[in-house]
Amino acid sequence: MSAPRIVTTAAELRAATEGARSGGRTVGFVPTMGFLHEGHRALMAAARADCDLVVVSIFVNPLQFGAGEDLAGYPRDLERDLAACAAEGVDLVLHPSVEEMYPRPMVTTVTVAGITERLCGASRPGHFAGVATVVAKLFNIVGPCRAYFGKKDYQQVAVVRAMVEDLAIPVEVVARPTVREDDGLARSSRNTYLDEAARRDAVALSRAIRATTEAVRGGRRDRAELERDLEVALDAAPGVVREYAEVLRGRDLVPTGTIEVGEEYVVAVAARVGAARLIDNATFTVAPGGAVHVDLGVLGDGRAFDGA
Ligand code: PAJ
Repeated sequence: MSAPRIVTTAAELRAATEGARSGGRTVGFVPTMGFLHEGHRALMAAARADCDLVVVSIFVNPLQFGAGEDLAGYPRDLERDLAACAAEGVDLVLHPSVEEMYPRPMVTTVTVAGITERLCGASRPGHFAGVATVVAKLFNIVGPCRAYFGKKDYQQVAVVRAMVEDLAIPVEVVARPTVREDDGLARSSRNTYLDEAARRDAVALSRAIRATTEAVRGGRRDRAELERDLEVALDAAPGVVREYAEVLRGRDLVPTGTIEVGEEYVVAVAARVGAARLIDNATFTVAPGGAVHVDLGVLGDGRAFDGA
Protein backbone atom coordinates (compact mmCIF):
# COMPACT_ATOMS: atom_id res chain seq x y z
CA MET A 1 0.00 0.00 0.00
CA SER A 2 2.21 2.81 -1.25
CA ALA A 3 1.02 6.41 -1.21
CA PRO A 4 -0.27 7.74 -4.52
CA ARG A 5 1.58 10.55 -6.26
CA ILE A 6 -0.35 13.80 -5.90
CA VAL A 7 -0.35 16.32 -8.73
CA THR A 8 -2.12 19.68 -8.83
CA THR A 9 -1.74 20.70 -12.48
CA ALA A 10 -3.22 19.44 -15.73
CA ALA A 11 0.25 19.42 -17.32
CA GLU A 12 1.73 17.05 -14.72
CA LEU A 13 -1.24 14.71 -14.96
CA ARG A 14 -1.16 14.67 -18.75
CA ALA A 15 2.57 13.92 -18.79
CA ALA A 16 2.00 10.94 -16.49
CA THR A 17 -0.92 9.44 -18.43
CA GLU A 18 0.74 10.03 -21.81
CA GLY A 19 3.89 8.37 -20.50
CA ALA A 20 1.89 5.37 -19.33
CA ARG A 21 0.02 4.97 -22.62
CA SER A 22 3.17 5.32 -24.71
CA GLY A 23 4.63 2.49 -22.64
CA GLY A 24 1.61 0.36 -23.54
CA ARG A 25 -0.13 0.74 -20.18
CA THR A 26 -3.88 1.30 -19.84
CA VAL A 27 -5.31 4.15 -17.78
CA GLY A 28 -8.29 3.93 -15.42
CA PHE A 29 -9.88 7.15 -14.18
CA VAL A 30 -12.26 7.82 -11.27
CA PRO A 31 -13.50 11.44 -11.10
CA THR A 32 -14.70 12.48 -7.63
CA MET A 33 -15.41 15.49 -5.44
CA GLY A 34 -13.63 13.89 -2.49
CA PHE A 35 -14.83 13.00 1.03
CA LEU A 36 -14.41 9.47 -0.25
CA HIS A 37 -16.53 6.56 0.98
CA GLU A 38 -17.18 2.92 0.06
CA GLY A 39 -19.00 3.94 -3.12
CA HIS A 40 -15.94 5.77 -4.43
CA ARG A 41 -13.68 2.99 -3.19
CA ALA A 42 -15.62 0.38 -5.16
CA LEU A 43 -14.97 2.44 -8.32
CA MET A 44 -11.25 2.64 -7.49
CA ALA A 45 -11.13 -1.11 -6.85
CA ALA A 46 -12.79 -1.78 -10.23
CA ALA A 47 -10.30 0.52 -11.96
CA ARG A 48 -7.42 -1.17 -10.11
CA ALA A 49 -8.63 -4.60 -11.24
CA ASP A 50 -8.97 -3.54 -14.91
CA CYS A 51 -6.22 -0.99 -15.61
CA ASP A 52 -2.46 -0.49 -15.28
CA LEU A 53 -2.39 3.15 -14.11
CA VAL A 54 -5.21 4.29 -11.82
CA VAL A 55 -5.97 8.02 -11.59
CA VAL A 56 -8.43 9.62 -9.14
CA SER A 57 -9.40 13.28 -9.35
CA ILE A 58 -10.56 15.15 -6.26
CA PHE A 59 -12.14 18.45 -7.23
CA VAL A 60 -15.24 20.12 -5.80
CA ASN A 61 -16.51 21.59 -9.04
CA PRO A 62 -18.14 25.01 -8.51
CA LEU A 63 -19.81 24.88 -11.96
CA GLN A 64 -22.21 22.14 -10.91
CA PHE A 65 -23.54 23.84 -7.76
CA GLY A 66 -26.49 26.20 -8.01
CA ALA A 67 -26.95 29.40 -6.02
CA GLY A 68 -27.99 28.47 -2.48
CA GLU A 69 -26.57 24.94 -2.76
CA ASP A 70 -23.85 23.48 -0.53
CA LEU A 71 -20.65 24.44 -2.45
CA ALA A 72 -19.05 26.30 0.49
CA GLY A 73 -20.01 23.66 3.06
CA TYR A 74 -19.30 20.61 0.88
CA PRO A 75 -17.37 18.21 3.14
CA ARG A 76 -13.62 17.93 2.55
CA ASP A 77 -10.90 15.79 4.14
CA LEU A 78 -7.87 15.43 1.88
CA GLU A 79 -5.78 13.45 4.38
CA ARG A 80 -8.45 10.79 4.79
CA ASP A 81 -9.09 10.75 1.02
CA LEU A 82 -5.41 10.14 0.29
CA ALA A 83 -5.38 7.26 2.80
CA ALA A 84 -8.40 5.73 1.01
CA CYS A 85 -6.66 6.12 -2.36
CA ALA A 86 -3.51 4.50 -0.96
CA ALA A 87 -5.53 1.59 0.44
CA GLU A 88 -7.13 1.02 -2.98
CA GLY A 89 -3.77 1.06 -4.76
CA VAL A 90 -4.39 4.30 -6.67
CA ASP A 91 -1.28 5.51 -8.52
CA LEU A 92 -2.05 9.16 -9.11
CA VAL A 93 -4.34 11.75 -7.51
CA LEU A 94 -5.19 14.95 -9.36
CA HIS A 95 -6.11 17.62 -6.82
CA PRO A 96 -6.29 20.89 -8.75
CA SER A 97 -7.27 24.30 -7.40
CA VAL A 98 -10.29 26.13 -8.81
CA GLU A 99 -7.81 28.55 -10.46
CA GLU A 100 -6.01 25.66 -12.16
CA MET A 101 -9.24 24.28 -13.59
CA TYR A 102 -10.86 27.66 -14.33
CA PRO A 103 -8.14 30.33 -14.68
CA ARG A 104 -10.73 32.72 -16.13
CA PRO A 105 -14.52 32.58 -16.30
CA MET A 106 -15.50 29.73 -18.63
CA VAL A 107 -17.00 30.83 -21.95
CA THR A 108 -17.48 27.26 -23.16
CA THR A 109 -20.14 24.96 -21.71
CA VAL A 110 -21.10 21.42 -22.63
CA THR A 111 -24.85 20.90 -22.42
CA VAL A 112 -26.68 17.64 -22.94
CA ALA A 113 -30.33 17.98 -23.95
CA GLY A 114 -33.33 15.66 -23.55
CA ILE A 115 -32.20 13.27 -20.83
CA THR A 116 -31.54 16.27 -18.56
CA GLU A 117 -35.15 17.50 -18.64
CA ARG A 118 -36.38 15.50 -15.66
CA LEU A 119 -35.15 14.34 -12.24
CA CYS A 120 -32.11 16.32 -11.04
CA GLY A 121 -31.96 18.14 -14.39
CA ALA A 122 -35.32 19.71 -13.59
CA SER A 123 -34.72 20.39 -9.91
CA ARG A 124 -31.12 21.64 -10.27
CA PRO A 125 -31.03 23.95 -13.32
CA GLY A 126 -27.54 24.14 -14.81
CA HIS A 127 -26.27 21.23 -12.71
CA PHE A 128 -25.65 18.81 -15.58
CA ALA A 129 -24.04 21.48 -17.76
CA GLY A 130 -21.59 21.97 -14.88
CA VAL A 131 -21.02 18.21 -14.63
CA ALA A 132 -20.64 17.65 -18.40
CA THR A 133 -18.26 20.61 -18.72
CA VAL A 134 -15.93 19.52 -15.92
CA VAL A 135 -16.03 15.86 -16.97
CA ALA A 136 -15.21 16.84 -20.59
CA LYS A 137 -12.30 18.92 -19.31
CA LEU A 138 -11.05 16.14 -17.03
CA PHE A 139 -11.34 13.61 -19.89
CA ASN A 140 -9.23 15.92 -22.06
CA ILE A 141 -6.60 16.19 -19.34
CA VAL A 142 -6.47 12.45 -18.58
CA GLY A 143 -6.73 11.39 -22.24
CA PRO A 144 -7.88 8.01 -23.56
CA CYS A 145 -8.91 5.84 -20.61
CA ARG A 146 -11.62 3.81 -18.98
CA ALA A 147 -13.64 6.07 -16.68
CA TYR A 148 -15.63 4.67 -13.75
CA PHE A 149 -18.95 6.11 -12.56
CA GLY A 150 -21.51 5.00 -9.97
CA LYS A 151 -25.10 4.11 -10.87
CA LYS A 152 -26.11 5.96 -7.72
CA ASP A 153 -26.05 9.00 -10.01
CA TYR A 154 -28.00 7.30 -12.79
CA GLN A 155 -28.79 10.45 -14.74
CA GLN A 156 -25.15 11.58 -14.50
CA VAL A 157 -24.01 8.31 -16.12
CA ALA A 158 -26.55 8.86 -18.92
CA VAL A 159 -25.29 12.43 -19.43
CA VAL A 160 -21.63 11.37 -19.54
CA ARG A 161 -22.36 8.48 -21.93
CA ALA A 162 -24.31 10.76 -24.30
CA MET A 163 -21.56 13.39 -24.25
CA VAL A 164 -18.82 10.83 -24.93
CA GLU A 165 -20.78 9.37 -27.83
CA ASP A 166 -21.85 12.69 -29.36
CA LEU A 167 -18.40 14.28 -29.12
CA ALA A 168 -16.40 11.12 -29.97
CA ILE A 169 -14.38 11.42 -26.76
CA PRO A 170 -11.93 8.49 -26.60
CA VAL A 171 -13.08 7.28 -23.18
CA GLU A 172 -14.83 4.04 -22.30
CA VAL A 173 -17.46 4.73 -19.64
CA VAL A 174 -17.93 1.97 -17.05
CA ALA A 175 -20.96 2.13 -14.70
CA ARG A 176 -20.78 0.30 -11.36
CA PRO A 177 -23.54 -0.61 -8.85
CA THR A 178 -24.68 1.65 -6.02
CA VAL A 179 -22.96 0.82 -2.74
CA ARG A 180 -25.25 0.88 0.32
CA GLU A 181 -25.05 0.82 4.09
CA ASP A 182 -26.38 -2.36 5.74
CA ASP A 183 -29.85 -0.83 6.23
CA GLY A 184 -30.04 0.21 2.55
CA LEU A 185 -29.05 3.89 2.69
CA ALA A 186 -26.98 4.71 -0.41
CA ARG A 187 -23.49 5.87 0.52
CA SER A 188 -22.98 9.55 -0.13
CA SER A 189 -20.55 12.25 0.94
CA ARG A 190 -23.67 14.23 1.90
CA ASN A 191 -24.72 11.59 4.48
CA THR A 192 -22.38 13.47 6.80
CA TYR A 193 -25.07 16.20 6.98
CA LEU A 194 -27.50 13.74 8.65
CA ASP A 195 -27.94 13.95 12.41
CA GLU A 196 -29.04 10.84 14.31
CA ALA A 197 -32.76 11.32 13.69
CA ALA A 198 -32.30 12.20 10.03
CA ARG A 199 -30.03 9.20 9.57
CA ARG A 200 -32.88 6.97 10.79
CA ASP A 201 -35.42 8.72 8.55
CA ALA A 202 -33.15 8.51 5.48
CA VAL A 203 -33.68 4.78 5.07
CA ALA A 204 -37.15 5.66 3.73
CA LEU A 205 -35.69 6.41 0.28
CA SER A 206 -34.29 2.95 -0.38
CA ARG A 207 -37.35 1.35 1.27
CA ALA A 208 -39.75 3.23 -1.01
CA ILE A 209 -37.68 2.30 -4.06
CA ARG A 210 -37.58 -1.35 -3.04
CA ALA A 211 -41.35 -1.38 -2.46
CA THR A 212 -41.71 -0.25 -6.08
CA THR A 213 -39.39 -2.93 -7.48
CA GLU A 214 -41.24 -5.50 -5.32
CA ALA A 215 -44.55 -4.33 -6.82
CA VAL A 216 -43.08 -4.90 -10.29
CA ARG A 217 -41.95 -8.36 -9.21
CA GLY A 218 -45.51 -8.90 -7.99
CA GLY A 219 -46.83 -8.21 -11.50
CA ARG A 220 -47.70 -4.50 -11.50
CA ARG A 221 -47.09 -2.99 -14.94
CA ASP A 222 -48.86 0.40 -14.86
CA ARG A 223 -46.02 2.91 -14.74
CA ALA A 224 -48.06 5.86 -13.48
CA GLU A 225 -49.54 3.73 -10.71
CA LEU A 226 -46.08 2.55 -9.65
CA GLU A 227 -44.94 6.16 -9.60
CA ARG A 228 -47.92 7.32 -7.58
CA ASP A 229 -47.35 4.65 -4.93
CA LEU A 230 -43.66 5.61 -4.80
CA GLU A 231 -44.68 9.23 -4.11
CA VAL A 232 -47.19 8.15 -1.48
CA ALA A 233 -44.60 5.98 0.26
CA LEU A 234 -42.07 8.81 0.40
CA ASP A 235 -44.65 11.36 1.54
CA ALA A 236 -45.73 9.04 4.36
CA ALA A 237 -42.17 8.76 5.68
CA PRO A 238 -41.46 10.98 8.70
CA GLY A 239 -38.75 13.62 8.23
CA VAL A 240 -38.66 13.20 4.43
CA VAL A 241 -39.59 16.04 2.07
CA ARG A 242 -39.95 14.72 -1.46
CA GLU A 243 -38.37 16.62 -4.36
CA TYR A 244 -39.20 14.03 -7.02
CA ALA A 245 -40.21 10.40 -7.29
CA GLU A 246 -40.34 8.99 -10.80
CA VAL A 247 -40.38 5.73 -12.73
CA LEU A 248 -38.81 6.38 -16.15
CA ARG A 249 -37.54 4.40 -19.10
CA GLY A 250 -33.76 4.34 -18.60
CA ARG A 251 -32.72 4.76 -22.23
CA ASP A 252 -34.20 8.27 -22.62
CA LEU A 253 -35.49 9.06 -19.12
CA VAL A 254 -39.08 9.58 -20.22
CA PRO A 255 -42.31 8.23 -18.72
CA THR A 256 -44.06 5.57 -20.83
CA GLY A 257 -47.64 4.30 -20.61
CA THR A 258 -47.03 0.81 -19.31
CA ILE A 259 -43.75 -0.84 -18.46
CA GLU A 260 -42.27 -1.99 -21.78
CA VAL A 261 -40.81 -5.48 -21.99
CA GLY A 262 -37.05 -5.64 -22.51
CA GLU A 263 -36.48 -2.01 -21.49
CA GLU A 264 -34.54 -0.95 -18.41
CA TYR A 265 -36.53 1.35 -16.09
CA VAL A 266 -35.18 3.51 -13.32
CA VAL A 267 -37.02 4.17 -10.06
CA ALA A 268 -35.49 7.49 -8.97
CA VAL A 269 -36.11 9.69 -5.93
CA ALA A 270 -34.71 12.88 -4.44
CA ALA A 271 -35.68 14.24 -1.04
CA ARG A 272 -34.61 16.50 1.75
CA VAL A 273 -33.92 14.64 4.97
CA GLY A 274 -32.80 16.90 7.79
CA ALA A 275 -30.00 19.09 6.44
CA ALA A 276 -29.24 16.84 3.45
CA ARG A 277 -30.60 16.56 -0.06
CA LEU A 278 -30.36 12.88 -0.92
CA ILE A 279 -30.91 10.97 -4.15
CA ASP A 280 -31.33 7.26 -4.77
CA ASN A 281 -32.47 4.87 -7.47
CA ALA A 282 -32.77 1.27 -8.57
CA THR A 283 -33.32 -0.26 -11.99
CA PHE A 284 -35.50 -3.09 -13.22
CA THR A 285 -36.14 -4.84 -16.54
CA VAL A 286 -39.05 -7.10 -17.38
CA ALA A 287 -37.61 -9.78 -19.69
CA PRO A 288 -39.66 -11.10 -22.65
CA GLY A 289 -40.48 -14.29 -20.71
CA GLY A 290 -41.84 -12.17 -17.83
CA ALA A 291 -38.90 -12.55 -15.44
CA VAL A 292 -38.12 -9.33 -13.57
CA HIS A 293 -34.46 -8.36 -13.12
CA VAL A 294 -33.86 -5.83 -10.36
CA ASP A 295 -30.62 -3.97 -9.52
CA LEU A 296 -30.79 -2.41 -6.07
CA GLY A 297 -27.02 -2.12 -5.77
CA VAL A 298 -24.61 -3.80 -3.37
CA LEU A 299 -23.46 -3.79 0.24
CA GLY A 300 -19.95 -2.73 1.24
CA ASP A 301 -18.63 -6.27 0.71
CA GLY A 302 -19.97 -6.38 -2.86
CA ARG A 303 -22.91 -8.74 -2.21
CA ALA A 304 -26.17 -7.75 -3.91
CA PHE A 305 -28.51 -5.74 -1.68
CA ASP A 306 -32.01 -7.22 -1.67
CA GLY A 307 -33.46 -5.24 1.20
CA ALA A 308 -35.21 -8.30 2.65
P1 PAJ B 1 -19.01 12.45 -6.36
O1 PAJ B 1 -20.35 12.73 -5.80
O2 PAJ B 1 -17.80 12.59 -5.49
O3 PAJ B 1 -19.04 10.99 -6.95
C1 PAJ B 1 -17.93 10.47 -7.66
C2 PAJ B 1 -18.35 9.14 -8.27
O4 PAJ B 1 -18.68 8.23 -7.22
C3 PAJ B 1 -19.59 9.26 -9.16
O5 PAJ B 1 -19.43 8.46 -10.32
C4 PAJ B 1 -20.68 8.73 -8.26
O6 PAJ B 1 -21.78 8.17 -8.98
C5 PAJ B 1 -19.93 7.66 -7.50
N1 PAJ B 1 -20.66 7.31 -6.26
C6 PAJ B 1 -21.07 8.15 -5.28
N2 PAJ B 1 -21.75 7.47 -4.33
C7 PAJ B 1 -21.78 6.17 -4.74
C8 PAJ B 1 -22.34 4.96 -4.21
N3 PAJ B 1 -23.01 4.95 -3.05
N4 PAJ B 1 -22.17 3.83 -4.91
C9 PAJ B 1 -21.49 3.82 -6.08
N5 PAJ B 1 -20.93 4.92 -6.63
C10 PAJ B 1 -21.07 6.07 -5.97
O7 PAJ B 1 -20.38 12.60 -9.00
C11 PAJ B 1 -19.54 13.45 -8.75
O8 PAJ B 1 -18.72 13.41 -7.63
C12 PAJ B 1 -19.27 14.65 -9.66
O9 PAJ B 1 -20.47 15.01 -10.29
C13 PAJ B 1 -18.16 14.41 -10.70
C14 PAJ B 1 -18.53 13.25 -11.67
C15 PAJ B 1 -16.83 14.09 -10.00
C16 PAJ B 1 -17.98 15.68 -11.55
O10 PAJ B 1 -17.65 16.76 -10.75
